[in-house]
Amino acid sequence: MARIEPVSAAAIAHAADVIRAGQVVAFPTETVYGLGADATNGRAVAAIYEAKGRPSFNPLIAHVASLAAAEALVEFDPISRRLAEAFWPGPLTLVLPMQPDCPISSLATAGLDTLAVRLPAHPVARDLIVAAGVPIVAPSANVSGHVSPTSASHVFGDLARRIPLILDGGHTEVGVESTIVQVREGTAHLLRPGGLASEELEAVIGAPLQRAEAGDPTAPIAPGMLLSHYAPKARVRLHARAVDPGEVLLAFGPRHVPGDADAAGVFNLSPTGDLREAAANLFRMLREADALAITGIAVAPIPPHDLGEAILDRLERAAAPR
Ligand code: TXA
Ligand code: MG
Repeated sequence: MARIEPVSAAAIAHAADVIRAGQVVAFPTETVYGLGADATNGRAVAAIYEAKGRPSFNPLIAHVASLAAAEALVEFDPISRRLAEAFWPGPLTLVLPMQPDCPISSLATAGLDTLAVRLPAHPVARDLIVAAGVPIVAPSANVSGHVSPTSASHVFGDLARRIPLILDGGHTEVGVESTIVQVREGTAHLLRPGGLASEELEAVIGAPLQRAEAGDPTAPIAPGMLLSHYAPKARVRLHARAVDPGEVLLAFGPRHVPGDADAAGVFNLSPTGDLREAAANLFRMLREADALAITGIAVAPIPPHDLGEAILDRLERAAAPR
């Protein structure tokens, strides 16, 4: 059974020992909890896929503690470097060509010649990477296909019997996974909207991000995004103007939604209509709504800009037929 250890210097040192010994540890980042392992140890990486029940053709993000550490793994083009300098540490993942002598296990990259790298802002994540002395690959610490965890108890609910240790750093601040960008021939492509708004990236790049067109099989996207993901048990209905009896309402903003008095439950992602607050609450409320829903989950309209892009992306996956 997994031990939940509140964050302390001793707990982080212990977690680093566990990682160096080739085992997995769940730890907080500013986005969601990650399930971390020594990126250079193929057996340790295999233990991640095993614990999550995740297909091993879906590559992992390598977490580093400095830009210099990233440069030892991958080759930066000028745009990617500008983005790293502007937004690291933070919820931005860059997909870049690997250095010829990159020590990351090929199991972590699923055999690709690119590597996704991220410098997290959460002090526990950074202290853990420094203490372990190796890059840490970490997918979200949930069973494959489930909603990503934003607290240690979410991780425990999914993985308690499958991993030895969970570092408990409370609720994560951003609440949705990192934004993933890949620069190809001088053009930045958005592979996954996430905790860093596209508008902020575009302001630094000085050009619009390229998004994958629906139905374009050659579009560069993150492989894991092909799957119907973030699956609650309940049916999810988006852009709902009213709630049906038996549904749980995920509301947004101060506006009253007709039918909410007869709903099986009401959660407001942000009563003031703040998209940051809504992102931070999204996965917890989706889990709680799923537990209460009788006929489904109705989601009120959410504006598609700023963090609304990532929120709607995750909700559309939750609503996808399966
Ligand atoms: O915020 C986050 O990014 C969290 C925290 C723990 O850091 N991690 C996370 O990891 O969301 P994961 O494994 O759940 O999602 C990583 C995504 C997957 O969709 C994967 O396919 C994509 O990144 N990815 C990884 N390496 C890639 C590569 N070389 N090229 C394209 N996509 C890649
Ligand atoms: Mg995930």
